[in-house]
Amino acid sequence: PDASALTRAESLITSIPDYPKPGIVFRDITPLLTDAAALRTVVEALIEPFAGRFDAVAGVEARGFLLAGAAAIAADVGLMPIRKAGKLPRPAASMSYDLEYGSAQIEMHDDNAAGARVLLLDDVLATGGTLRAGRDLLQAVGSEVVGIATLLEIDGLGGREVLGDDVHAVFRV
Ligand code: PRP
Repeated sequence: PDASALTRAESLITSIPDYPKPGIVFRDITPLLTDAAALRTVVEALIEPFAGRFDAVAGVEARGFLLAGAAAIAADVGLMPIRKAGKLPRPAASMSYDLEYGSAQIEMHDDNAAGARVLLLDDVLATGGTLRAGRDLLQAVGSEVVGIATLLEIDGLGGREVLGDDVHAVFRV
């Protein structure tokens, strides 16, 4: 995608101060998602560095699904949904991770996971806990995580330190 299309897409991400808690700035990608050109631009920007190197895209519920579904179609590969705990109908692999207060768990079915080369996507990288757990879970089911890409990296929260420098961020703030 060209720079002006990316700049325009970035301008559609809306910052909501003090949501969901005082002191937190929520990054709302809804205005970007609802704009056809911006959506196509960011999906192409997410997958471009990994072209030809992945057989599937994975995304973490819920907002990660939005980009992963679009990216899977754009790249003509399969989609591996990683869900929050307690929603899957068959025995599932699971991974726990720490939140600021307490912990959370993600789960997935392992269909077509063994040996798959997977690009893991999410909308926002903050502390990195979600994507790290996603990467660990994919590796636990036998997939190779060939890359991690996020639409928006929030600097200063440690995400890049947690995941390593091979994370591709389309935008940083
Ligand atoms: C948000 C966001 C990322 C994650 C980033 O999801 O969509 O998945 O937090 O934060 P981290 O880097 O500190 O892990 P959230 O858990 O709010 O769930 P949602 O997608 O269902 O809104």
